[in-house]
Amino acid sequence: MDGYGSLYDLREVAVPTYQHPNVAGEENDYFDTLYEWTYRKHDILRKYVETFAKIKKNLYCVDAFAGRGQHRDGAHGSPLITASIAQRLRDEGKPYWLRCLNVEKDSQYYADLCEATAAFATDLVHNFRGDFAGHMTRLLAICDKQPALFFLDPFGVDGIEWKRLQPILTRTATTELLINFNVRYIPRLAGHVTSNAAAAHAKVRLLSEVLGTTTWIPQVISPGVSVENSLADERVTTALSTDATLGDRLTDIYKQQLCLHFPYVYHYPIRAAADGHVRYYLIFATRSEKGVSVMNDILCATEEQYQEDVERLHPSAPPPAAAQLSLFAAESAVSAASMTPAEAPVQCQNSALSRDEILLARQGHLKTAIQAAVQQAFQNHPHTPLTYLQLRCQLARQWFAQVKRSTYSQPLQELYRGGVLTWDTAGKRLPKDDELVYWAPPK
Ligand SMILES: C[S@@+](CC[C@H](N)C(=O)[O-])C[C@H]1O[C@@H](n2cnc3c(N)ncnc32)[C@H](O)[C@@H]1O
Repeated sequence: MDGYGSLYDLREVAVPTYQHPNVAGEENDYFDTLYEWTYRKHDILRKYVETFAKIKKNLYCVDAFAGRGQHRDGAHGSPLITASIAQRLRDEGKPYWLRCLNVEKDSQYYADLCEATAAFATDLVHNFRGDFAGHMTRLLAICDKQPALFFLDPFGVDGIEWKRLQPILTRTATTELLINFNVRYIPRLAGHVTSNAAAAHAKVRLLSEVLGTTTWIPQVISPGVSVENSLADERVTTALSTDATLGDRLTDIYKQQLCLHFPYVYHYPIRAAADGHVRYYLIFATRSEKGVSVMNDILCATEEQYQEDVERLHPSAPPPAAAQLSLFAAESAVSAASMTPAEAPVQCQNSALSRDEILLARQGHLKTAIQAAVQQAFQNHPHTPLTYLQLRCQLARQWFAQVKRSTYSQPLQELYRGGVLTWDTAGKRLPKDDELVYWAPPK
């Protein structure tokens, strides 16, 4: 029993029973009820941890902001979700394991967490009381050289200051990060940049500490206005408070920071199906191409489920904010290889398209993009073609969470039949992940 059983059953027949905020849009205590967007976050974590543990053979999941383990309505929180996977892998006699290290700062939540996880073996689930960064040395010593996924899921931004993350960022063993990046709160912090009040300075400092840089300050202030002149400048203050792109621009800066340590950094918006508004971004950072592929496919399924939830909630007209992620213009990630600032996934311009039409359009654009990527790789390095996995990773920079592996099948076959590209087993099957994809048939 994973605490989601009833939700899964109901999802088959009705709008999910998880809750939406009250009329005023205010949430009560986070742990009172499981909101539908929290369900999506948990679902992503559950699927990724399970798959990644299998791929890596063993995995530590460090839940650095673990919470109380369970919502008061009975739904499982992240620690119980991962603990259940760890236990199941053991019960099924798998030759690999998942071990869960949970950190919780609040005394009452910590006590609740211990109670919620008491039934699990201590070598599978271990809880730490206190500040996550305070336990860092011990956590890293336990993880040692094993693969580790660090799940950073704070309230707001307190606790994820850049300096505190350094030991994780510079860890040499397989390391991945899944971060709840509060893209609603962060622009509010940035908005204080034009105030001279001491409290405003503290907020600006906090944001710089989280992003690990002050370069955001001149970047968010209107071009042509100096930082000094902008202080107390009414026009800049107004421009910032109405700037809908501010959150995305700050996210890009944060992702570029992460790119200093991880070649692959992507984000996915966790939205409320009721109004389509983004609650936060989940930022995923990895050095593993396989990790990109797995997370991408999980998020494609999440996105499909989200769109179904929106349709069930709004059968006649979905709210504009809930539109599909864009097929065409999204540049939803930056990487060390291409450090162009990314736009957030923008919304599909034409939400009147049917699912089949969207798939068709996606395949058409994908075909063009595959052709361009393979051709470019060939021109840059004629003797080192891309593997199929590398190709998908490269294209995920544009279409993360939008194009799943199976969508490649049609465009690849058409490109092969058109004599544009090939691979060793072409004509028999699609390439394997490590199979090279050539520009034009090899001589
Ligand atoms: C959003 S909740 C976590 C929810 C949980 N990850 C889940 O999905 O069920 C954030 C939790 O982090 C805890 N917390 C806040 N600051 C912390 C810190 N510096 N170290 C560890 N835990 C912290 C809070 O008490 C709270 O329980």
